Amino acid sequence: MMRSSLQSTLLALVIFSLVSTLLFLFYFKEETTLFGRHWKGALLLQQRVSNARHESDINKTELFPRGSTSTPLKCEPKNNILFLKTHKTGSSTIANIFFRYGDLRNLTFALPGATLLGWPNRFQVYFPFRLQTKQTPNILCSHSRFNKKPMNWLFPKRTSKYVTILRNPVDNFESAFSFMKLGNQVGVGNNPDSLQRFLKNGIPFTTMEGKASPLTRNPLLHDLGLSFKYYQNLTAVNEYIQFLDNEFDLVMIMDYFDESLVLMKRLLCWKMDDILFLKLNERQNEEKDTILTDDVRENIKRWNKADVLLFEYFNKSFWDKIENEGENFYKELATFRERKSEIKRACVTNETRLQTVYAAKRVKGYSIRSDLPKGLKTLCKKLTISSNAYLAYLRGKHNERLEKDVDEDKESWDLSKDLVYKPVQPV
Ligand SMILES: *[C@@H]1O[C@H](CO)[C@@H](O)[C@H](O)[C@H]1NC(C)=O
Ligand SMILES: *[C@@H]1O[C@H](CO)[C@@H](O)[C@H](O)[C@H]1NC(C)=O
Ligand SMILES: *[C@@H]1O[C@H](CO)[C@@H](O)[C@H](O)[C@H]1NC(C)=O
Ligand SMILES: *[C@@H]1O[C@H](CO)[C@@H](O)[C@H](O)[C@H]1NC(C)=O
Ligand SMILES: *[C@@H]1O[C@H](CO)[C@@H](O)[C@H](O)[C@H]1NC(C)=O
Repeated sequence: MMRSSLQSTLLALVIFSLVSTLLFLFYFKEETTLFGRHWKGALLLQQRVSNARHESDINKTELFPRGSTSTPLKCEPKNNILFLKTHKTGSSTIANIFFRYGDLRNLTFALPGATLLGWPNRFQVYFPFRLQTKQTPNILCSHSRFNKKPMNWLFPKRTSKYVTILRNPVDNFESAFSFMKLGNQVGVGNNPDSLQRFLKNGIPFTTMEGKASPLTRNPLLHDLGLSFKYYQNLTAVNEYIQFLDNEFDLVMIMDYFDESLVLMKRLLCWKMDDILFLKLNERQNEEKDTILTDDVRENIKRWNKADVLLFEYFNKSFWDKIENEGENFYKELATFRERKSEIKRACVTNETRLQTVYAAKRVKGYSIRSDLPKGLKTLCKKLTISSNAYLAYLRGKHNERLEKDVDEDKESWDLSKDLVYKPVQPV
């Protein structure tokens, strides 16, 4: 009798735990399909649910957090970011987002002394402007060439997010070629047919090394740190792409700019207003009217084959990521676009004013409304100032802060008395 009642109790227990586990797994499944981005945290919970012996072992608040349909289980805004700023990818606009975010919160930037953080040299820890021992930099978002060890040292992987942006190599190369007048550097002039003439044969390595910008071939992979000697080595290029996939938390795609920013917002746990932007550093329309024939497009791809492989890989992983975000990603994207037009309407009157950036380079600029309230005016100005102007302002702010810091070497040892000098007294 004793034995069979024990058996039936055990049986009841087993059935109870099986049923409750299934019940919770069912709810959990709803949760993950509805809000796809929770799935990693949810997997952990799934394990805990499976391990739980009693229903009361399972914390329902944790499983179904209230009002958290668009934020993950635990989401703290990330302030430590390395943005590898690539060329001709909309990266100035993104740098402006980082400038504003860090400026508002008085974060420390790894700033260049002028415009570039040592580019085209590979990044070194001593490149940033007046970075003092007491400061840990929060944000790097100026042009630099990827260099794993020094970058990981200043921006430890464990506490930092690594972000960059790519663009389809046809438009990217055309834009670099025209913006930087690469034709002049390689002897085909700066005319509408220069690009086509350049692509007829390309150039040998010695010509590029001698007098042309390193952006003359595979500009994206160059900025991301691949050596020229691997440009025609398929194994090496594929290995390097895998390496980059490990190094970067998010690779955005300029062709899908708004989607990119919403992904970034989610990765960094930021607010919608943190990612607002107005397009910056855009070429004047007359510099943009080149129409590329199919042959030119195809040759751009063949000349920049390594960048094509890079782009294809990360364009795929980009859309995989968006799919994992679930349905509410698109709701957020729509809200973001509305908010962006609102801000543009509020700030800007005439879009076609030209702005001088870099030496003698003129790009599209904005005219700000004159009748704005003070807070909005400040926001509008910061949204539209050129990278160089913002950098100069941030360097000033950085200097001011350094001057306010007390120089420790000027403080007396008499602050403490524990180890005060007591010489032996002569007897
Ligand atoms: C359940 O989890 C929530 C959120 O993590 C926590 O605040 C609460 O104290 C937990 N409750 C129990 C009974 O452990
Ligand atoms: C940033 O610094 C300014 C000037 O020192 C100060 O007024 C402001 O409150 C600071 N902001 C934050 C968020 O710490
Ligand atoms: C190509 O790259 C791979 C991987 O880095 C290397 O092992 C191989 O020697 C390279 N091939 C040539 C011809 O340089
Ligand atoms: C990027 O990938 C998507 C989805 O596979 C594809 O539809 C699109 O054409 C790709 N974009 C470019 C610019 O190649
Ligand atoms: C906009 O700016 C352009 C160039 O400065 C100027 O020619 C034009 O008159 C302006 N339009 C308006 C509506 O202010």
